[in-house]
Amino acid sequence: MIRFEASILSADLMRLESQVQDAVAAGIDGIQIDVMDGRFVPPITFGDNIVKAVRSVTDTVLDVHLMIVEPDEQIEAFVEAGADRIFIHQEASLHLHRTLQSIRKAGVEAGVSINPGTSWTVLEEVLELTDIIQVMTVNPGWGGQSFIHGQLEKIRTLDKVLRKRKLDVPIAVDGGIDPVTAPLVVEAGASVLIAGSSIYNDRAPVDVNIKALRQSVASSK
Ligand code: DX5
Repeated sequence: MIRFEASILSADLMRLESQVQDAVAAGIDGIQIDVMDGRFVPPITFGDNIVKAVRSVTDTVLDVHLMIVEPDEQIEAFVEAGADRIFIHQEASLHLHRTLQSIRKAGVEAGVSINPGTSWTVLEEVLELTDIIQVMTVNPGWGGQSFIHGQLEKIRTLDKVLRKRKLDVPIAVDGGIDPVTAPLVVEAGASVLIAGSSIYNDRAPVDVNIKALRQSVASSK
């Protein structure tokens, strides 16, 4: 089953509650909250306060994508705020093995995210410790960027490795996901698709955009 999550990075933040409710009403499988600290990536976006606010208006899966340095320092706060899953970046984690253990110990799903310039092989020693792997298909920091097609081979390779090791670890993809690129990543082995600007935009309402994404992969395996 292919799952779609809406990234609120491109949502109208002055109407955040209704933007979240619109996505939930349209059957989205989760909400991703992109936390940026101005150091790991240039922009500064949301804190645990926004996670708490979104948690107060929906029971859907809340997925917190930490694009921050020193992620260990923030895990407790985001779990407290209501996260169901926390993605940390391998590139920001000095002790990836320990950090993933601590996220699981905190009672939420432990996810690890890798940037386009990072090989999947950095995850070799933690594949059994992670609940989900996120392959960035843009360089993190902004919504609305173009999909990096070169990441498809990484997704394919990761999918093969996980199947060979009989690990039931889903592959998420994040960045430039729209009705054209969604089938490509699904064919490569991704099953959790994060979409921001293809859901939240002034071209069509949220429900129409989510339907278009689902239809684009309807014929996929
Ligand atoms: C990193 C962010 C974005 C966001 C999705 O920049 O993580 O990838 O979630 O943005 P879109 O779907 O607009 O590329």
